[in-house]
Parts: sequence; C-alpha cells; structure tokens
Amino acid sequence: MIDDIQRIRDEARNKLSSVDDLTELDRLRVQYLGKKGVVTTALKQLKDLTPEQRKEIGAVVNEARDELESRFEMKRLDIKRSDLEKELSRTEPLDVTLPGQYAVPAGSQHPVHRVIDEMVGILRKVGFSIATGPEIETEYYNFEALNTPDSHPARDVQDTFYVQSPVLLRSHTSPVQVRTMKAIDPPVQIVSFGRVYRADYDHTHTPMFHQMEGLLVDEDVSLADLKGVMHYLIRELFGKRAIRFRPSFFPFTEPSAEVDMQWNDGWLEIGGCGMVHPNVLEAAGYNPDRYMGFAFGMGIERIAMLKYGIDDLRSLFENDYRMLEQF
Ligand code: PHE
Repeated sequence: MIDDIQRIRDEARNKLSSVDDLTELDRLRVQYLGKKGVVTTALKQLKDLTPEQRKEIGAVVNEARDELESRFEMKRLDIKRSDLEKELSRTEPLDVTLPGQYAVPAGSQHPVHRVIDEMVGILRKVGFSIATGPEIETEYYNFEALNTPDSHPARDVQDTFYVQSPVLLRSHTSPVQVRTMKAIDPPVQIVSFGRVYRADYDHTHTPMFHQMEGLLVDEDVSLADLKGVMHYLIRELFGKRAIRFRPSFFPFTEPSAEVDMQWNDGWLEIGGCGMVHPNVLEAAGYNPDRYMGFAFGMGIERIAMLKYGIDDLRSLFENDYRMLEQF
C-alpha cells in the first residue's frame, strides 16, 4: 500500500508539471484531492488496517496529501501570474479614455430652484438685493418682532414646529425682514427666499416648503408702489394677465391684501402682501413716523406647480427620477 501511495504521488507530480491552465488544474485537483479523489479514498481505506499499520501508512498518506496540496496551490499561483503577464504584454494597449458602455445621467435643476432663480432675477432687475436668515429661529424673530402676539393662532404648537420654546423652525421667511432692518439703515430693498416649516400634510401642504419674500422700506412708499411691483413680478413670471388685491389680514402688515391672478376663467391666490405695520418698523428700530414700506410673500411650490403644470405638491419632494427628468 505504501508503494501505491508513492506511485499516486509521483503520478500527480508528473501531471501537475505539464498543466498550464486553471480549468485543467481544477480537474486534476478533484481527481486527486477531491472528496472522491484518489488520496481521500486511500485515507478512507485506513480503517480496515490494524492499528500499527494504520499508524505507519496513515503518516505516509497524510504526508503525500500535504505535499500535493501545497504543490497544487503553488501551481495555481504560477498560472495566475503567467496569465497576468500575458495580459499585460499584449501588443494592443487598452485605451482607458474610451467612453463607457453606459451614459452617466446628467442632473438638472429642481423646479423649485428654477423658480427661485427666476423670481430673484426678476426682482434684482428693479433694485432688490438678496437677504438671508436662519431656518432655526426664535419666537422673537418669527412672531414677536412681527407684531404677532402671544395669543395668535399661528403660534400654536399645531402649526409651528418648536425645537424647544423659544427656539423653533421658522414658519415663514418674514423673520429675515426683521433681521435685515435691525442690521442696516433705510432705505431697504430686499428679497429673501428659502425653506419654511409648518405642521401640515396633504396634496397641497408639505411640512417643509419654500417661500419668497420682498421688502421695501423708505421715506415715501405707497400701496401704489406695492401694486406696481406685484404687477411687474407676475407679468414677468406668467405673461400679461389680470391680478387683483383682496383685503386680508396679517399681523405684520396694515393694510393687508391677498394677491389673486387670473387663471382659466377664474382667480387663483398667489401670495400675501401689505404695508409694513408701524409696530414692525418700531421693533426693528426704525422711526415709523418717518419710514414706511411694503412687503409681500409667496409660496414657491405654488408658482412652480402653476408654471410647470404639476398637480400634486408632494411630487416636488418625492425625488422621483421620472418626474425630475422632465426639467
Ligand atoms: N409671511 C406671510 C405668510 O407666511 C406672507 C406675507 C409676507 C404676507 C409679507 C405679507 C407680507 O403667510
């Protein structure tokens, strides 16, 4: 039996020396070292021997198996190395600058940001400059300085997201008015835009949405100026169409109005506006006997939906590729 083992081992060594591809190597490996391989079968036969024989022959079989295993492994590494060398020495070089098989999809601007860019562009042409403020605000800037008393329903926890009173997520862009007026002297002519937050969710409300807001404060500002700017803005955005001002209420403007635009034989509300309330000017440190101003605000998503014919507000935030691809 010992002779058999030596013979098997020599035979395997011989065959191994002439192998030069991995498939053939695998086949040989199965033949000798696999579950039903020659060596494994020899190991199984040991159980029929006497303990002394088993000890002696077992050692030889084990040694043969170990030797063959390491030869197979060395051969495998050899073949891999020479395959790689062949690959590298091919005369035809690989052009790594060739375009890939699949085109990388290009992104596009989100409709909300398109509208922001467009509106800011329109307002800058007539002298507004951009002002910014934080999304995490305080009750003071979001309400108090905007003449919104403690008892006002907008302060209700149900509408406003509180981080922890008095810190909240701004529910409109109007706190930027206050911050700007506190920082600079009149005249002020700014546009601000950004995210605002309210606890609301259905097909026309999302807990986060975008607003755009304009503010102009100077010595001689009238409702006629406000109307002029609103006419101009809407004409630039939607083309020539009728607009109307409907009396309304905001704590921070007096008088206040809602702006409607003509749309398919009817009227559509498009934003709020009014003359800045004297209390707001005063809170900002402006003399209300000398200065006056107007402010207006509108929802960006509303305008994006009208401009691009989107009918569910939520689709603006679902980031469905098929929807965004259209822009
Ligand atoms: N801040 C108001 C809102 O969120 C909109 C507005 C802005 C109204 C400026 C008047 C003047 O509803």
